[in-house]
Parts: sequence; C-alpha cells; structure tokens
Amino acid sequence: MGGASGDHVATLAALEEEAKRRIRAADGLEALRELRTEFLGRKAGRLTAILKSLPSLDPDTRRVVGQKANDVKREIEGSLTGAEVGVQRASSLLEPRQDLTMPARPVWRGAKHPTTLVIEKVSRIFGELGFTRAVGPEAETDWHNFTALNFPKDHPALDAHDTLYLGEGALLRTHTSPVQIRLMLTHRPPIRVLIPGMCYRKDAFDASHAPAFQQIEGLVVDEDVTFVDFKATLTLFAQRFFRAGTKVRFRPSFFPFTEPSAEMDVECQICHGPGCATCKYTGWAEIMGCGMVDPAVFEAVGLDPDRYTGWACGMGPGRMAQQLFGIPDLRLLYEADVRLSAQFADAG
Ligand code: DAH
Repeated sequence: MGGASGDHVATLAALEEEAKRRIRAADGLEALRELRTEFLGRKAGRLTAILKSLPSLDPDTRRVVGQKANDVKREIEGSLTGAEVGVQRASSLLEPRQDLTMPARPVWRGAKHPTTLVIEKVSRIFGELGFTRAVGPEAETDWHNFTALNFPKDHPALDAHDTLYLGEGALLRTHTSPVQIRLMLTHRPPIRVLIPGMCYRKDAFDASHAPAFQQIEGLVVDEDVTFVDFKATLTLFAQRFFRAGTKVRFRPSFFPFTEPSAEMDVECQICHGPGCATCKYTGWAEIMGCGMVDPAVFEAVGLDPDRYTGWACGMGPGRMAQQLFGIPDLRLLYEADVRLSAQFADAG
C-alpha cells in the first residue's frame, strides 16, 4: 500500500474504531443523534470531510481511500442504526402502556379437602398410638361386606345399608368394615390398624347423608384387649382430635359385628351444648360406631375367640370435619369449592 493512501486508510480505520467505541458508550437516542452528526453529518461530518477531500488525491490513492471511506461509512451507519434500535426496544418496555405496578393475576391454588385433613389428622394420632394404615377394595363380595361380619341373611340390617349391588355376589362396599375381615384373614394378631376409604349407599343426599362418603375403620386384635382399653383409647383419641377436655359419651347401640356396640358422640362443636340444626338440637354429634369385636367375626376368619379379643370402630370423617371446622351442612363438603377448603388448609 502506497504511503499516501496508507496514511489515509489508517486515519479512516482509527475514525471507525473511535466511532464504534463511542456508539457503544452512548447513553441514549440523543447521544446517538449527536454522533451521527459528528461523523456522518452532511456539512461538517468528520467522514464527510474525508470523502469531500477525495477529488484532490491522485487517482490510485483516491480509489483505495474512496473504497475504504465507503466501507467505514457503511460500518458506522450500521452501528448507529443497530444502537438506535436497541435503545428504542429497551425503552418501549418501560413505556406506560405496560403498568408494572399493576397487581399480578392471582395464581390459582388448590387446598386439601377438609375430609382429607381429618383423615390425615386421625392417621397421625393413631399412628402415635402404634397403629399402621391399610386399604381395601371398594368393590367387595357380599361375604366380606356382610356374611363374615355376622350380618344374618335377610336381616333388616341389610336394608339399612341400602346396598348398591354389582351382580354375581359383588357390591360396592357399604362400609370399611370388610377390610377388617381381609386383614384378619392375612395377618395374625396383634393387629392395630387404621383403614380409610370410600363407601357407597343408595342414600338420599341430605344435610347429614351422602351416597358416597369416606369412613375410617379402626381395628385392634390381641390377647387380653379389654372394654377399658377400647373406651380409654377412643376417649384419648377424641381429646387429641378436638381438644383436651372435650366431652364424649358412649351410647349403647347395635352392630352385628360388635358386642357390646356403641355410638360415640362428642359435645357439638358448633353450638357447644344448647343444640343447633347440625346436632339436631341434642348438643351431641355422633362421630363413630364402635364396639368389642363379636366372637362370631373371629370364627368367620379362623381366629380363636377364646384366645383373642378386640375392638373396632368406624368413623365418619365428613361429620368429624363438620365438627372440627364448624361446617354446618355436610353438603358443603361435596361442592368441590376451593373457597371452602382454603379456609382450613392450615388447620387440622
Ligand atoms: N361399619 C359401621 C357402619 O358403617 C360402622 C362401625 C360400627 C364400624 C361399629 C365398626 C364398629 O368397626 O365397630 O355403620
């Protein structure tokens, strides 16, 4: 490269480098506009001045320098345009058409169902007392659901269960008690187990009944299990589940698979005594059926009734949720409304 053109080319390269450095450092559209004028301005631009001086150069130098000057011009032009677009794009994000102070749309959050919270709490308390957990099938045989549990054939107790039959000796279980049978057939005592699950009955849907509902079965079988163990364990459970000092009572009742049988009531947690629609103005709310395992049940599963005794209970976690959380109508538990569940999500 000849001396004269070499000097000019070096000057142009330096000019390009300076322009690019200052474009990178420019802090806004105004600064970029000033740089455009300084380097490319039609009248006094520094590159324009060089281009204007071209005619005074000898032809060879002019060709080389002219070529370089045009390259540099295109480079600076490109850098300026790129930088301007970048600044505009960044500032458009900050424009008020997007109100960054606007509250975010609330994130939809689910919450555990009150009945689930009850099942978890009951499992925790009985877990502390040494109980394990088990489950059984919802489609059952007539034998497990009724016969082995000492329901006499054609006994009116069968009517009370309003069974949904599936045909060929199969049915939807009307209670979780058949899982007692399954466990006693497969496990030797000592047995201490809690069995939550869905049950089905052809019941009308009203404030205290539903055709599909949860139950939690409890079963204890061992040598020397007494009526005192039974009452004491369930009373302790109720005190832990509600609060210390909560009044409970055992009312004599009848179930084919227990003898004696009882129903356990808790002082109504909604009215605390005087009576309300939820406790049918009795001041008491029934939360489970219970009793000492009937020897006939042990015989049905091949356990020696002279050696083993036990107690069992069948809790209604829906009713217990009503009591624990003060939900007056059972039907609220069937509406899948997260506004209900969310109120108790941290409780239980
Ligand atoms: N299975 C009974 C029902 O659904 C409830 C029940 C009562 C279960 C007494 C038991 C019990 O284990 O001992 O009505």
